[in-house]
Order: sequence, then C-alpha cells, then structure tokens
Amino acid sequence: MSRVFRVPVATTRPRTGGGAGNAPAPQAAPARAGIVAGCLSPHPPHLIYAENPPQNEPRSTGGWETLRWAYERLRKRIHEVHRPDVLIVHAPHWITMVGHHVNCAPNPRGISVEPIFPHLFRYRYDFRTDVELGEAIVEEASGLGLVTRAMRDPRVRVDYATIGALHLANPAWDIPVVSLSANNNPYFYSDAALEEMEVLGEATRRAVEATGRRAVLLASNSLSHLHWHEEPALPEDMEREHPYNNHQYRWDMKLLEAIRRGPTAPLRELITEHIEATASETKAGSLTWLLAAMGWPKVAGDVLGYGTIIGTGNAVVEWLPEGSPHG
Ligand SMILES: [Fe+2]
Repeated sequence: MSRVFRVPVATTRPRTGGGAGNAPAPQAAPARAGIVAGCLSPHPPHLIYAENPPQNEPRSTGGWETLRWAYERLRKRIHEVHRPDVLIVHAPHWITMVGHHVNCAPNPRGISVEPIFPHLFRYRYDFRTDVELGEAIVEEASGLGLVTRAMRDPRVRVDYATIGALHLANPAWDIPVVSLSANNNPYFYSDAALEEMEVLGEATRRAVEATGRRAVLLASNSLSHLHWHEEPALPEDMEREHPYNNHQYRWDMKLLEAIRRGPTAPLRELITEHIEATASETKAGSLTWLLAAMGWPKVAGDVLGYGTIIGTGNAVVEWLPEGSPHG
C-alpha cells in the first residue's frame, strides 16, 4: 500500500475479554455506552425506490420485498432494543482519494442522486450530525496514524450509499449521524488493502467510548457485485431478478454461512477471498471497518435477509457485541 495515503499506523490493541474458547464474555449493563450493534446495510437505490418514501421523487409499484422486510426487522431492533444515540455509517460512494474524511457539517441538506439510476433515486435529505463524535473520530484516527480530515462544507452533496443505508435503517431520521468516507486506495491495487480499515475501526470504537455514546454501526456494502447492464422496462419486474450466476451466489452463501456460524475472526480472510471471487463491494472496506470496530467479536451474525438486486448479492446482517444483554 502506498505511503502517500497514510503514515505508518500504530498496532491495534487487543480487545479485552478476548480469551480463547469459552472464556466468559464481559457482562454489560442494559443501557451501557459503546457500540451496541453493527449492521451490514446495503444501499442499492432500488430498495428506496421500491418503498416510495416521500423524500424520493420517482414512484414504483414495489419489488425486492424480502430485503425490505429484513430492513423492517432491523429498524424495529434499532428503535426498540438498541436505542442508539448515533448511527455511524461507512459508505463506498463517498470516495476520498487521500485519507479518510468524516462529515462534520451539523445539518446536511440537499438532494442525493444516484448517477447510474437517476430515474430511481432523487432523494431529498435533511439530517443532524453528531459533530462532537465526528471530531472525536478524526482525532482518534489521526492519533493512530491515518490521514483524516473533518469535512465541514455543508454544500457537499451526500452520496447515495450514505443516504441509502441511513434511510433503510432509520427512515424517520430521528437519530443523529456520523458518516465516514471510503478511501479509494483499495481500487488502485489488485489485492484488497483492508489493513487501514482495521485502524479506522479501532479509532471509531475509541471515539465512541470516549464520548460515551451508544452507537449502531452501518456498513453500507453489497456482497457479490457483478450486475446486469440492461434494465427491464419495469425496473421492479421481479421476473427478471436473480443471482448474476451460480458462482456469485455460492460465494455469497459461503460467506453468509460463516457469518451465521460465527465467530467473526475467520471472516478476516474469507472477506478477502470473497472479494477476489465475486468483485464484492466489501472491497471498499465498510464491513471490515465495522467488525474491526467491534473487536472481531466471538459471536455469530444474524442474517435477517438476502436477496439480489440487478444480480448483485445483498444481505442485511446484525452483529451484537460480546456480552450483549440481547445476544
Ligand atoms: Fe454501491
């Protein structure tokens, strides 16, 4: 990895309570601060298009219901169980060429447009940022050697991967947000360079704990990422929706079976293999950031749903931290 993008990073600290085998998990009070859940939260614009929320201009007749029902279950858990102070999202389409940016504009407002599917996604957004936590992430990441900046320009249009994951996880937009950019570094190299995401995850965890927040993390990534190049006359025609091919599907199942089996540590290597096999969008690092922030917990992930969107694989998954009272 080029040193243009960062200075040498500090070694991440081992997570406490990380003993082998059946070591007792740390006990947690029900209302503890910290990262209370992490969610794989894919953002294809089709899901919001299919829901017809008032913020999105195009209208649809529905579609992709199994994934949308999975998101409905996730929303219920976020609101009724996790009750976070903040949602922190890492999204692959806020691309920064140098380092990592954290959106510290207090009240981003505007229209987010999906450049390939503008007929599906023209979304009017207006949300609040947890600026104190955003600044804490910048400070912690910088302290760990990452090139990191606070983005404070309210005119910067928020990308559809950030808006998509946030809307689908919390369409009421009643929880403050911190959004992180995806450094484009992995796309300059043949192998996925996810090492930095381990550090960004550690910085995120430290900042959440230092500020005493209850945080839910959203990794805004699809899985297998080959897709159709022709759209049906009715975009939500479900007769046309299926995996790109069986190879892509089998690799998604291999990853999801490992997630459902737990623990998360073997996913480190499997995520890289999955990227090489399927051009997975996790190459942008969101999933690795999320699991690193949670300390690669010795838990199984709960796969709430899987489905394809224009042939790409998408799963809604929830991980709880070790020792969670809800695990
Ligand atoms: Fe995407």
